[in-house]
Amino acid sequence: MKMYCEWLETLEPRDTLSLYFHIPYCQKLCWFCGCHTKIVNHYEPILNYLDFLEREVELVARHVTSTVQHVHFGGGSPTILKPDDFLRFMDLVRQCFTINPDAEIAVEMDPRNVDEKKIAVYAQTGVTRASLGVQDFNPRVQKAINRVQSYTLVRRVVETLRAKGINALNLDLIYGLPFQTLKSITETIEQTLSLEPSRISLFGYAHVPWMKKHQKLVPEEALPDSEQRRYMYEYAASILKDAGYIAIGLDHFAQPHDDLVLSTNNKTLQRNFQGYTTDTAKALIGMGVSAISSMPQGYVQNTTSGIDYAQIIKEGDLPLSRGIVLTEEDKLRRDIIMALMCTMEAPLDSTSYSKEMALLKPYIETGDVSYEDGMLKVHPSARNRLRMIASIFDSYLSTADHRYSCAS
Ligand SMILES: C[S@@+](CC[C@H](N)C(=O)[O-])C[C@H]1O[C@@H](n2cnc3c(N)ncnc32)[C@H](O)[C@@H]1O
Ligand code: SF4
Repeated sequence: MKMYCEWLETLEPRDTLSLYFHIPYCQKLCWFCGCHTKIVNHYEPILNYLDFLEREVELVARHVTSTVQHVHFGGGSPTILKPDDFLRFMDLVRQCFTINPDAEIAVEMDPRNVDEKKIAVYAQTGVTRASLGVQDFNPRVQKAINRVQSYTLVRRVVETLRAKGINALNLDLIYGLPFQTLKSITETIEQTLSLEPSRISLFGYAHVPWMKKHQKLVPEEALPDSEQRRYMYEYAASILKDAGYIAIGLDHFAQPHDDLVLSTNNKTLQRNFQGYTTDTAKALIGMGVSAISSMPQGYVQNTTSGIDYAQIIKEGDLPLSRGIVLTEEDKLRRDIIMALMCTMEAPLDSTSYSKEMALLKPYIETGDVSYEDGMLKVHPSARNRLRMIASIFDSYLSTADHRYSCAS
C-alpha cells in the first residue's frame, strides 16, 4: 500500500488521470455474465457499499493532485444506484478531485433499470457517455441467457438520453450466444443500427463455466461452434462496415466522425480494462471491489471480497489485495500488446522473442499474421483472433487465463 501511495504522489498536477468506479450489483443475473457482480433484492447493501466507496474516494484523493479527464462507472450495473445517491456520490467525487470541464464521464447502463429521473440526474451531474448493454434483441436468445429486454425499451432509453443531451452512445452486442443464427444476428444488428449509436461493441461470448458457475445455466448444446462463431463475427462485421462503421481493434465499431476513429488514425488509441478508449491519461485509478488501477510503474487490484473491502476501509486503509511492479521487460511486452490490440501491428525484434515467434508460427502459416522487416502485422481478417495473438506476449498469463482469452 505504501508503494501505491508513493506512485499516486509522483503524479503531477499537470498529469491527467482517469477514474474508474466499480458498482458490483445487479437486480437479475444474466446467465452469460462474466462480470464481477452480485444479485441483490434489497437496496440496503448497495447503500452500505456506496458509503465505503465514498470513504475510498476520500482516502485515494489525499494522495492525488492531478486533474481528471475521464470518469467511468462500470459493474455490475451502476444504474442500480438511486438518482439521489448518484448525485451525492458525484458531488463528493467533484469535491475530492479536480475534474476538467471537458472530461468524459461515462456510465455503463442496463436499459432495464434506467428511467427518466435517473437520466435527468446523469445529465445534471455531467455524464457525457452512456454504454448500454443490449447483447441481442432476439426473444429466443434473450430467454436462453436470462436477459429479456425489448427493442422498444432500449429505443425509449436511447431517445431519453438524447433528449437530455447525452449523445455519445455505445451499444454492447454479443455474438456466439445460444440459438443465435446468421439471420437472428443480422436482425439484431439492423435494429441496433436503427438507433444510430456512434459506437457499437461486438464482444465474442466468453463461455467460462469453470470460472463463472452460473454460465452452466446457458444451454451449451445451443451454442454455436467455433466455425459458426467466426462466420457470425465476419458477417456481423461486414453489415456494420456496409452501414459506414469503422472497425476498431478487436471488438469495437464506430461512426467515421467518432473520436475512436480519429485516435485510431493518429495512432493514439488505447485499450484499458474497460475497453478501447481515446483516453491517454497517465494513470487509471480504479475504486470499488475488485477494481484494478494502472500506473506507469505497475498495477494494483482491490480485494474481490466485499467483506474484506468494507473491513479494510473501516480501518482507514486502501483495500488493495495485490499488485505488481513492472520490470523494463514487462513494459516492452505491455507496449507490444497495446500496439497489437490497437493498431494490429507492432515493431518487434524476433531474436528477443524466439519463444513467441514459435507460438506465432501456426498463425503465420495461415496468413493471419505476417512478420516482415521487423514488423509483426495481424491481417484484418484475423481481427477477432487479436486477443489470442497478443496474449502470446503476456508472460503472466496462466494456463487458465489462456483458456479464458481463447474463449473470448
Ligand atoms: C457491466 S456490463 C454492462 C452494463 C450492464 N450491467 C448491462 O449488462 O447492461 C458490460 C458488458 O460486458 C459484456 N459481457 C458480460 N459478460 C460477457 C461474456 N461472458 N462474454 C462477452 N461479453 C460479456 C456485455 O456485453 C455487457 O454489456
Ligand atoms: S450482464 Fe450486466 S446486468 Fe447482466 S448480470 Fe452481468 S453485469 Fe449484471
